[in-house]
Amino acid sequence: MQVIESIEKMQSMAISLRLEGHLIGFVPTMGCLHQGHLSLIDRAKNSSDKVIVSIFVNPTQFGPNEDFDRYPRLLKEDLKLCEEAGVDIVFCPSMNDMYPEGYSTYVDEVFVGKDLCGISRPNFFRGVSTICVKLFNLVRPDFSYFGKKDAQQCAVIKKVVNDLNIATEIIECETVREPDGLAMSSRNRYLTEAQRADALAISKALFHAKDMVANGADNADRIIAEITHELAKFRRIRIIYVQVVDSVSMKAVRTILPKKTIVCVAAWVDEVRLIDNIEL
Ligand code: PAF
Repeated sequence: MQVIESIEKMQSMAISLRLEGHLIGFVPTMGCLHQGHLSLIDRAKNSSDKVIVSIFVNPTQFGPNEDFDRYPRLLKEDLKLCEEAGVDIVFCPSMNDMYPEGYSTYVDEVFVGKDLCGISRPNFFRGVSTICVKLFNLVRPDFSYFGKKDAQQCAVIKKVVNDLNIATEIIECETVREPDGLAMSSRNRYLTEAQRADALAISKALFHAKDMVANGADNADRIIAEITHELAKFRRIRIIYVQVVDSVSMKAVRTILPKKTIVCVAAWVDEVRLIDNIEL
């Protein structure tokens, strides 16, 4: 496995791999890798012959009072996991190379990213879109793999790639859950035992919503009310939003359409912000 830090080296490597006819699969990450990331790497290995993982904690997607400084950085452990998973190249550029002094160009998708997390984290999708476009330009992937846990992120990136004619196919991969249902997330490591126990209510409420739909419920308001009611039972949980949306536009819908509608939740569990969603 090669570890590349320099932008120039990554660019020339990507060009050589393409000239040699390799299909490049790309998994962008902020490190602190868990089973969710490993499942993306696994998918990439199945459909590409060179797998590149980027590790970069992207400052532009964090708000001023968010957890950028304390976001877990575990490069040594991450590199070991990548090596064991059979990754070919890990790209871990420096902050200064990605955002040198005077940096002033951003990618701002203004429709899909507007609601849900776009309201509570106003610059988040601009930061994510900007870093992903920069990484796509450097890595030149045929396929790029994102987890469905971040459903709005997937939808925004798909829209950006489509609108800007970027030649990578976005592959959305299923959310990986702990055996008890909690969606895997790098932020889960912030949770105390008691907080983790309460956090479980989020996935439970989502599974309950899916059951309701399987049993004939088709009204979004009913689903939202039920999830809100379930989460309100937990004193550590404060809901940021519960919304039933179209999975492409991420706009609220009133009626549930199979395979097209998801219900998304964002909530604070004390000071830890978690998101999750499920297809209805
Ligand atoms: O999902 C993430 O880890 C990040 O938002 C991403 C896509 C790597 C961009 O920094």
